Amino acid sequence: MRFVDLFSGAGLFSCGFVQQGFSPILAVDLSGDAIASYQRNVAPVGRCGSVSDLERLPECEVLIAGPPCQGFSTLGRRDPLDERNALAFEVVRLAATNPPDVVVIENVPPFLRSAAWLQIRNGLIALGYDVVPWELDASDYGTPQYRRRSFTIASRVGTPEIPKPASAMVPARTVLSRPVDPDDALHRWPAPTPLAEGRMRLIPTGGDKRDLMRAAPDLCPPSWRQVGCQATDVWGRIDPDKPANTLRCAFQNPSKGRYIHPTANRVISLREGARLQGVPDAWHFVGRNYPVARQIGNGVPVPLAKAVAGSIRQLLVNNVDAAA
Ligand SMILES: C[S@@+](CC[C@H](N)C(=O)[O-])C[C@H]1O[C@@H](n2cnc3c(N)ncnc32)[C@H](O)[C@@H]1O
Repeated sequence: MRFVDLFSGAGLFSCGFVQQGFSPILAVDLSGDAIASYQRNVAPVGRCGSVSDLERLPECEVLIAGPPCQGFSTLGRRDPLDERNALAFEVVRLAATNPPDVVVIENVPPFLRSAAWLQIRNGLIALGYDVVPWELDASDYGTPQYRRRSFTIASRVGTPEIPKPASAMVPARTVLSRPVDPDDALHRWPAPTPLAEGRMRLIPTGGDKRDLMRAAPDLCPPSWRQVGCQATDVWGRIDPDKPANTLRCAFQNPSKGRYIHPTANRVISLREGARLQGVPDAWHFVGRNYPVARQIGNGVPVPLAKAVAGSIRQLLVNNVDAAA
């Protein structure tokens, strides 16, 4: 069962498909670092360049794609004219050149409620696909992180079953309390300034900037007290007994979310971030700190990708059995 990955990033989505026995034959991404990581960890089939420059889809059973989500994300401006939204249409254009059995498009949940999604769905229906949308949370599929994602499944071989959730949630401590190899080059984080470290010392487990404002107003900038600056998760310390909050690309910046280590006065390392995304410790990411954090924070959590890939595999197997 061959697959192509468009907007592959470092290949977290691909990894779930490989774990279910699929073979990647092509992965395309604009980022050289991400493609170098893909080559190293997934398979040497990466191509650095724009999906828009790909003329034809090679013969494959499954096409997977995670087009940029900034234009649809609730964190962005959700501008329907954002040109990054147009990249999602490339998936339909390429599917039309050599239609695979199944197309899977991953994105943020608001994508499903966008005008672009309706157009993409209609385009896929016109190619002969049945289209179903799924909204799944990675924490229901064995990932130690809450992360909701949408999957648009277009199939010409029947409707896949929505993957069954795991029996229990996995708390962050499962991966964050496991020792990291001291030689692991990814176990790195930006050293906090004395002010940042002083703030972190006062933030309890599960706490955040509001605890700091109560305990030490002198350590807080005046802007935190201004009305309209009510983001609660920032300068948050991860609660090890729950799945972590959604990891974003800036997960090594404490002012961007709940990224302080459960017990140490620092943000989580790149390796710890990768673990919260379900990435095996054998993986190494290529690039400097922020490009690596982007590859990790942009990815589909591997256990969620694996659960989706399992449903697609079952569909293809059932289809072969029915044909025999
Ligand atoms: C959401 S990330 C994909 C993450 C990936 N599915 C994973 O699980 O690791 C989107 C990717 O699209 C890439 N990208 C943006 N514009 C592109 C283009 N025109 N052609 C190819 N890749 C592009 C970015 O470099 C980024 O890696």
